[in-house]
Amino acid sequence: MPFGLVSAWNKRRRSKSEDQINPWVYKPAEQWQIECKGPQPKRRNASAVYTVKEMEEATCSFSDEYLLGKGGFGRVYKGTLRSGKVVAIKKMELPPFKKAEGEREFRVEVDILSRLDHPNLVNLIGYCADGKQRFLVYEYLHKGNLQDHLNGIEHVKIDWPSRLKVALGAARGLAYLHSGSDVGIPIVHRDFKSTNILLDTNLEAKISDFGLAKLMPEGQETCITTATVLGTFGYFDPEYTLTGKLTLQSDVYAFGVVLLELLTGRRAVDLTQGPSDQNLVIQVRHILNDKKKLKRVIDPEMGRNSYTMESLAMFANLASRCIRVDSHERPSMVECVKELQLIIYINSKGLGMTMHALRML
Ligand SMILES: Nc1ncnc2c1ncn2[C@@H]1O[C@H](COP(=O)(O)OP(=O)(O)OP(=O)(O)O)[C@@H](O)[C@H]1O
Ligand SMILES: [Mg+2]
Repeated sequence: MPFGLVSAWNKRRRSKSEDQINPWVYKPAEQWQIECKGPQPKRRNASAVYTVKEMEEATCSFSDEYLLGKGGFGRVYKGTLRSGKVVAIKKMELPPFKKAEGEREFRVEVDILSRLDHPNLVNLIGYCADGKQRFLVYEYLHKGNLQDHLNGIEHVKIDWPSRLKVALGAARGLAYLHSGSDVGIPIVHRDFKSTNILLDTNLEAKISDFGLAKLMPEGQETCITTATVLGTFGYFDPEYTLTGKLTLQSDVYAFGVVLLELLTGRRAVDLTQGPSDQNLVIQVRHILNDKKKLKRVIDPEMGRNSYTMESLAMFANLASRCIRVDSHERPSMVECVKELQLIIYINSKGLGMTMHALRML
């Protein structure tokens, strides 16, 4: 074999085997092979690259004082960069048997978020990939996650107009992902839930955590089959769990579950309840289109003068369609955006606040 060919073959073999043996071999984002045959994406937000030292400085060596929360992939800290910018830093901590999975999620998160730009998606400021350490640096969102405002640590529960605003923001974020704008290919989030909806000071919703997101390859826009069903209990699309077929409508199902959380103030899965009352969808799905019974499940902590029954009924009806078992019968996210705009208008009109409603739309 001529020398040039042997050397090229060896190089290819070496890089392939290094990749397979050691998933921690770091590659620049451009070389991450996310299966995507569509047009080349626009890169809008150039993500900064940080060192471990900068991450330590920003968080006073990951002091508990700065801990914002803990999730399946590690802890999130509030931090201040050298520039003075306040950020949220996710420190990925996984047991050795889950490291490869963590690396994949880290790469997908950086790659996808760097391509996207929308007011209802969290902004990735940068990342750190130093040796085996991985950190993600996000814009800091002052009001934390939605679940805490519905049934978590926050004492004052948000009122109905604010819940509608959050629902509309999240719907716009998902509609943008599904539209394929900027990337050229629709994206399924796959882990949409109330803890992955973060809120800024004006209660503008920002969708976070794109580690499980999937690009829908061209020619198969309607579905892709995945070997493992991933996501979070309580939000799983039943069609996806039964068949492994993932569609954009799987996000619509999860969106419907979040609408139910907004309506009832209950958790998607509440393990403190008895076995038959743990799952929110099972608990309420049969009464969503029954106005009389609906009153029984409305969040009792929501200010009575902040809502009209008409808007609640329309909202419950939309939720009931999002959680339909047959994914073809669920509305698209664009349809959800339009209906939520109408619901906001109807509620504000009923409360005599038309100008306020128009400002929110
Ligand atoms: N950008 C941010 N600004 C402010 N707080 C944040 C930010 N990102 C995350 N947090 C907080 O940190 C918590 C933990 O986030 P993380 O994404 O690790 O876990 P999770 O979403 O609760 O669970 P899971 O790992 O199952 O997705 C969040 O619930 C949120 O309250
Ligand atoms: Mg999260």
